[in-house]
Amino acid sequence: MPHPNSGKPLATKTLMTTAKEIEELNTRLSNSKPKDIIQEVSELWPNLAISFSGAEDVALIDMASKLIDEPAIFTLDTGRLHAQTYEFIESVRKHYELPIETLHPDPQQLSRLIKDKGLFSFYEDGHEECCGIRKVAPLRAKLATVDAWITGQRRDQSPTRAEVPVIQVDSTFSSPDHPVVKINPLANWSSEDVWNYIRMFDVPYNQLHDSGFISIGCEPCTRPVGPNQHEREGRWWWEETTIKECGLHRGNVED
Ligand code: ADX
Ligand code: SF4
Repeated sequence: MPHPNSGKPLATKTLMTTAKEIEELNTRLSNSKPKDIIQEVSELWPNLAISFSGAEDVALIDMASKLIDEPAIFTLDTGRLHAQTYEFIESVRKHYELPIETLHPDPQQLSRLIKDKGLFSFYEDGHEECCGIRKVAPLRAKLATVDAWITGQRRDQSPTRAEVPVIQVDSTFSSPDHPVVKINPLANWSSEDVWNYIRMFDVPYNQLHDSGFISIGCEPCTRPVGPNQHEREGRWWWEETTIKECGLHRGNVED
């Protein structure tokens, strides 16, 4: 049976940002195909952006490039990425002929951290402070300029992501006068689904995947995983699985 809203004019941004409306939209789209989710949210929130760092995100960029005229894409350049990741970002830019906005940490905050604690403080007192400066603060500034963002989170990625909805109000980055909607079109997809898509559509991927890396973040905080290890075991391997969220997706742990 068609959804009662199908065929009706699309709601405006203000209509669609109350928690209840987002919840209803999430229920309606929870089993939709990622490309249908992208199509619908891009009409609801034209001022949205895709956050790009890994394999999942390029699958989303591939879908969006077929549906939207010049989708907005950004990546958080922490300054600590692998050389292969920078090459990968460039290959995606060239492949899709789309601009990719790079976001950078505040130089003063960064140099204060390095002066006080050096370049590898995360091994000693946890990744939160460094991620806060290199990732979370630039993301917060970016999300203040958009109505919605698209991520490549999947439920099977980690225990902290087991409940990730397709659409949610982003509790971490919304403020009372600026609600931000977070869209996770691949929430229901497995890693296998992502890689089938990448192969089928000849989507560019990070060459580190050919050397045993699965989930890839910053160079000092990522290592390859062995057989039967979970994909996120190579991220911040010196910390507990339950706190393996760097702040971009803090809501997964807090909500
Ligand atoms: S992380 O929080 O642990 O680093 P993960 O690497 O699993 O996240 O990626 C999940 C999603 O977060 C990605 O699909 C992407 O949407 C977003 N993301 C993660 N890192 C970045 C980054 N450096 N730049 C932009 N988006 C990112
Ligand atoms: Fe810093 Fe590691 Fe976080 Fe990158 S992943 S911002 S290097 S703590």
